[in-house]
Amino acid sequence: MSKDVAKRAAANAAVGLVEDGMTVGLGTGSTATMFLDALAEQVKQHKLREVTCVATSELVAARAISMGLKIVDLKDQIDLAVDGADEVALPDLRLIKGLGGALVREKIVAQAARRFVIIVDSEKLVDRLGIRVPLPVEIIAFGAEWTYQRILALGVEARFRSASQGGKVISDNGNPIVDCCIGPACDAAEMGRRIRAMTGVIETGYFDTDVERVIVGDDTGNVRQLVAPENEDGVRGC
Ligand code: A5P
Repeated sequence: MSKDVAKRAAANAAVGLVEDGMTVGLGTGSTATMFLDALAEQVKQHKLREVTCVATSELVAARAISMGLKIVDLKDQIDLAVDGADEVALPDLRLIKGLGGALVREKIVAQAARRFVIIVDSEKLVDRLGIRVPLPVEIIAFGAEWTYQRILALGVEARFRSASQGGKVISDNGNPIVDCCIGPACDAAEMGRRIRAMTGVIETGYFDTDVERVIVGDDTGNVRQLVAPENEDGVRGC
């Protein structure tokens, strides 16, 4: 419950970054959904007009449409993308994402955005990536078992993500996801590169996309903003 307070505080702060006429990337996950809901409320109350959105998953697209937001295909650069994360490493703001299974579309949208903003509760902040969560990897369905064996051959403990009702989790792109327990001793950037270099791997949840800022909510409803050292001069206040 207090985690929800923290997530909502971060989500509400991010809505303050949206301006009329913007195209906004909607992330996937519980925190990003709070952002979606808060944005839809602003539009409903006519506090924001002419906001267009790009969704990072089918679920998010359906929710956004049901709440009156306009969803378009990604064709051009977008103004802003707001998304959650599973881990945020300090101080360089590299990320692990994808526990929600939407990592490929999330990375495409993040890279298409002029401004990429992350919203999290403070439990997501870590000194090294891989401490709390595995590195999700989407692999192409064809030959998935072979690609999986090749990932294992790197010495990584990995398993196909399984659905609670049985069977493999399949992404919106029709592919399985392999969760790789890289652990804090491993360099996530290097392991991400090695895994991504394999034919059959579509993308990993290691994000080194430039994050404009990370908005961190706490369980009292306060927020603070973290900016990558190289961006410190360029960030405007919420
Ligand atoms: C979705 O694929 C993920 O990248 C999410 O952004 C991530 O799992 C964060 O989700 P929560 O906000 O639910 O923790």
